[in-house]
Amino acid sequence: MKKEGNDAFDQGMLSVIQQLISAISVLMVGLILLTLVFVFNDEITLLLTPKPLPEVPDRSEEAVVLASSAESVYWIAPDITTISDQEKRAQINYGKQLIAHTAKYLGPKGSVKAISNGMNCQNCHLEAGTKVFGNNYGSVASTYPKFRARSGAEEDIYKRVNDCFERSLNGSGLDSSSKEMQAIKSYIEFLGKEVPKGEKAEGSGLKELPYLDRAADVAKGKLVYVDKCQSCHQANGAGLLNAARNEYVYPPLWGKNSYNDGAGLYRVSNFAKYAKYNMPLGVHHSFPQLSDEEAWDVAAFVNSQSRPHKDVPKDWPDIAKKPIDHPFGPYADGFTEQQHKYGPFQPIVAAQQKQAKDSPGIKK
Ligand code: HEC
Ligand code: HEC
Repeated sequence: MKKEGNDAFDQGMLSVIQQLISAISVLMVGLILLTLVFVFNDEITLLLTPKPLPEVPDRSEEAVVLASSAESVYWIAPDITTISDQEKRAQINYGKQLIAHTAKYLGPKGSVKAISNGMNCQNCHLEAGTKVFGNNYGSVASTYPKFRARSGAEEDIYKRVNDCFERSLNGSGLDSSSKEMQAIKSYIEFLGKEVPKGEKAEGSGLKELPYLDRAADVAKGKLVYVDKCQSCHQANGAGLLNAARNEYVYPPLWGKNSYNDGAGLYRVSNFAKYAKYNMPLGVHHSFPQLSDEEAWDVAAFVNSQSRPHKDVPKDWPDIAKKPIDHPFGPYADGFTEQQHKYGPFQPIVAAQQKQAKDSPGIKK
């Protein structure tokens, strides 16, 4: 009996001691861990902080500083959720969807109609046409209708929107009375509603880029493309479709599904300005990643590749009004198509200035 009792007592003591030891060791481990966390605090924080994506360096701090100072001089799109009229809000939201996901509604597999090449308006008018210097629509409502030298006529918003459908989206236009065109127009007008008539919003459209003192170089541009663009837009320039194949993840830069040679981006200067301040995707215009030379050269390379052709015999009825980098003759000056396409542009500018000085009475 006694022996049994002693055994039970011994076992009881033993388990108490065991529990004590394990409690102490847990405490010790905890203490050691705590000391480690304390000593290596910075290293641990670094380890746990997610790394920024490799393509786009983290510029958020600078961007925040900018947002609170210089950035505020730029146009900011009004907020759709503030529209109290429900019907109007729904229409404007639909317009925004059509700009952001054009292909889903109007692309080759479009749910409404198949009238365009699968690109979205947003591919070139970033953030649904609201990004500063991302080719935004800030100044459209305030400046249209306006005379445009390309058509030699007064153009309204319908005409300008259909221009991009027919050229940038290599398709056909929408009826101005259609639900889709009305929604797009309402959205664009809503975006520019606070810009005074006749004025241009700060940061709208594309940011200016100085000319190089040489021609843009296709061969150098190819190197830029391989290094900085190909990972998304692909080696063959054809971009990449999503899994449902109804919208691009990375839009095409050339080939049969890209913009045609009548489009605004086919002008090397437009392409260079767009790329310099917006690509690789995600760059802020204040922190471009391409040098001016890289932007011009990659523009020359991409626009030297094959793409759909559009016959536009009625464009530029006054040939003297063709932009310097319009790549199709005839021209009012003696420069070649080659030089008008790739530059150097300064000699053309100088010749035009001289012409204007020599015959000041003649307004072109
Ligand atoms: C491939 C690129 C691209 C796509 C896609 C594109 N656009 Fe454009 N768009 C441009 C460029 C570049 C300009 C400026 C052209 C110029 O100034 O010569 C422009 C100009 C415009 C303008 C006039 C802007 C202004 O301030 O005068 C409107 C409006 C417009 N686009 C609407 C659209 C709509 C709507 C779609 C979709 C159906 C679309 N765009 C798709 C490249 C594109
Ligand atoms: C990280 C991926 C990525 C990289 C790298 C990249 N792009 Fe893009 N690019 C995009 C995406 C995505 C869009 C469409 C944006 C949207 O719809 O919001 C786009 C749109 C464009 C467009 C307008 C649409 C079109 O298809 O014509 C051009 C031009 C363009 N990129 C040129 C370039 C150039 C030049 C480079 C290299 C300097 C480059 N991109 C690098 C992702 C990228």
